[in-house]
Amino acid sequence: MSIEVKNLIKAFDEKKVINDVSFKVNDGETLAVVGFSGSGKSTILKLICGLITPDSGEIITSQGDIAMVFQYSALFDSLNVADNIAFALHERRDLRNKYSEDEIKNIVTEKLALVGLKGIEDKFPSELSGGMQKRVSFARAIVTEPNSILYDEPTSGLDPISSTLIEDYIVRLKEETHAASVVVTHQMSTITRTADRVIMLYDGKIVFEGTPDDMLKQDNDYTKQFVQASLEGPMKMMTE
Ligand SMILES: Nc1ncnc2c1ncn2[C@@H]1O[C@H](COP(=O)(O)OP(=O)(O)OP(=O)(O)O)[C@@H](O)[C@H]1O
Ligand SMILES: [Mg+2]
Repeated sequence: MSIEVKNLIKAFDEKKVINDVSFKVNDGETLAVVGFSGSGKSTILKLICGLITPDSGEIITSQGDIAMVFQYSALFDSLNVADNIAFALHERRDLRNKYSEDEIKNIVTEKLALVGLKGIEDKFPSELSGGMQKRVSFARAIVTEPNSILYDEPTSGLDPISSTLIEDYIVRLKEETHAASVVVTHQMSTITRTADRVIMLYDGKIVFEGTPDDMLKQDNDYTKQFVQASLEGPMKMMTE
């Protein structure tokens, strides 16, 4: 399902965190959103999935489920892994009677296998490493077979092999479902492996839009600074 945002504006305490941003993600396409910490990346995802409302502008999504993989895993501490993953299947009115308990069990097993975590159904979030929690939250997000997926830093804090696993899965899921996906990330491997297009945010605005290859050409001062991780360039970080 495609996602389109038009002239989006969102301010917090008078500061326009998102200042007239427009872009489109087509079916079967993955858009990476990059930018320094505080540039409004998570805010954009929250606006798209309706967790917060824009001050002005439009968000147009076609029918279907939107899933969000949160930046911090946001698992329920009091539920074990299986119940965390099955949460939407148990709690959502439209899904509650769709599957039997045995079917739910199989879905949970299948989603856990996809993120490389077979057999941890009975563990609680506090017993897992941060990276494992992240992968469980990924499994939880895809349990409803969504048409559109928003990933907030899906690979940050993961070791390179786990990152590759998640990146491959983002690509596989897109190919299987033809979903429109938005991936917020800092990680070059995630950009180059998963994204068809990249936008870069700074000071509430899009300062670059192009393919991952375009981004690496470094003929844009913003992407050049980002790729080189340089303190010198048009983007200033607040350091105090
Ligand atoms: N609910 C809120 N209330 C007030 N300010 C907010 C709120 N949510 C976000 N902000 C502010 O908006 C700005 C952008 O935040 P956001 O979380 O979108 O950044 P980000 O690009 O995702 O950063 P990071 O890379 O650190 O995750 C920050 O200055 C933040 O303090
Ligand atoms: Mg964020």
